[in-house]
Amino acid sequence: METKDDILILGIESSCDETAASVVKNGRIVMSNIISSQIAVHTVYGGVVPEIASRKHIENIDWVIDSALKEAGVAFSEIDAIAVTYGPGLVGALLVGVSEAKALAYALGKPLVGVNHIEGHICANYIQDPEFEPPYVALVVSGGHSHLLYVKSYSDFEILGRTRDDAAGEAYDKVARAIGMGYPGGPKIDAAAKLGDSKAIEFPRVFLEEESFDFSFSGLKSAVLNYLNKKKMLGEEINPNDVAASFQNAVIDVLTAKTIKAAKYKGVKKVAMAGGVSSNTELRKKMRILCDENGFSLNVPEPVFCTDNAAMIASAGYYEYIKGARSGLDLNANPNLKLGER
Ligand code: KG4
Ligand code: ZN
Repeated sequence: METKDDILILGIESSCDETAASVVKNGRIVMSNIISSQIAVHTVYGGVVPEIASRKHIENIDWVIDSALKEAGVAFSEIDAIAVTYGPGLVGALLVGVSEAKALAYALGKPLVGVNHIEGHICANYIQDPEFEPPYVALVVSGGHSHLLYVKSYSDFEILGRTRDDAAGEAYDKVARAIGMGYPGGPKIDAAAKLGDSKAIEFPRVFLEEESFDFSFSGLKSAVLNYLNKKKMLGEEINPNDVAASFQNAVIDVLTAKTIKAAKYKGVKKVAMAGGVSSNTELRKKMRILCDENGFSLNVPEPVFCTDNAAMIASAGYYEYIKGARSGLDLNANPNLKLGER
């Protein structure tokens, strides 16, 4: 039951290949979470085709929003504000959500709050966990981004490190394609790795400079491609499950080691993860073990809130809204929006 002090945010997300809408109460309680995935449409092409993504968003956005309100049992009039992802992401895809949100805000006379997609991923940690709050160190690993952050408050982030080339999810997707596992690669490699030997092939762990919290995954990706080419030239069979497990082990060793080091450096006892790659079974397991060993608590959203969804956007929108942040009807999509930028 809602009281008049409750704040209901309608979140809208369309930055890549998921059209999503959600109603979230007080930034934490998910009343509905509708996600229309385009994975099946893009699989044929081996990756997201931006033009097709935009068209699919247009086809789906109205019913996705209607379903989110219906499932939440909430009328448009009861919504306090509309939060929408305006970057980073594919510009044509972002524009569909932004235009829809602006039209709704104008027609309903409701406040509009533009949300940074990466900030949304981080806020997935607040969903359904009333206890979790900043400060903490967060590892944000998705298809387009890899960041190590010190989260000072709900909307103040210090970037400790970021990828210098491929994002972690991008490396997963490229390696999966090379071993013929298709798109999206993350979940396929996650499953295949369970059947393989993670010590079968020694792939490089790139830690960069001693003091750096940055990541680099392109060397690892090249090492996998070189391994595959060499085997092909020698006419030798490869074991895709061993390649998947060994590649994944190399990625996870670096992600977990740098996260633990960052938490020690900042002197915090709380660690969080976010983004599509944080739904990875082995990454969750290893990070949990290392956090336990070091006396850190670990917060990771349920897998459905790790990959793209609108509940995380509504949650981030809530924290912006209570801070007084409002966007004008001139809000535009910003495909290269940086974290902390408005
Ligand atoms: O956060 P997300 O849904 O979208 C972006 O903002 O990019 O992340 C998608 C990425 C893709 O690269 C996908 O392969 C990866 O997350 N991913 C995974 C898993 N599930 C999704 N990577 C590893 N293991 C998984 N289980
Ligand atoms: Zn995302």
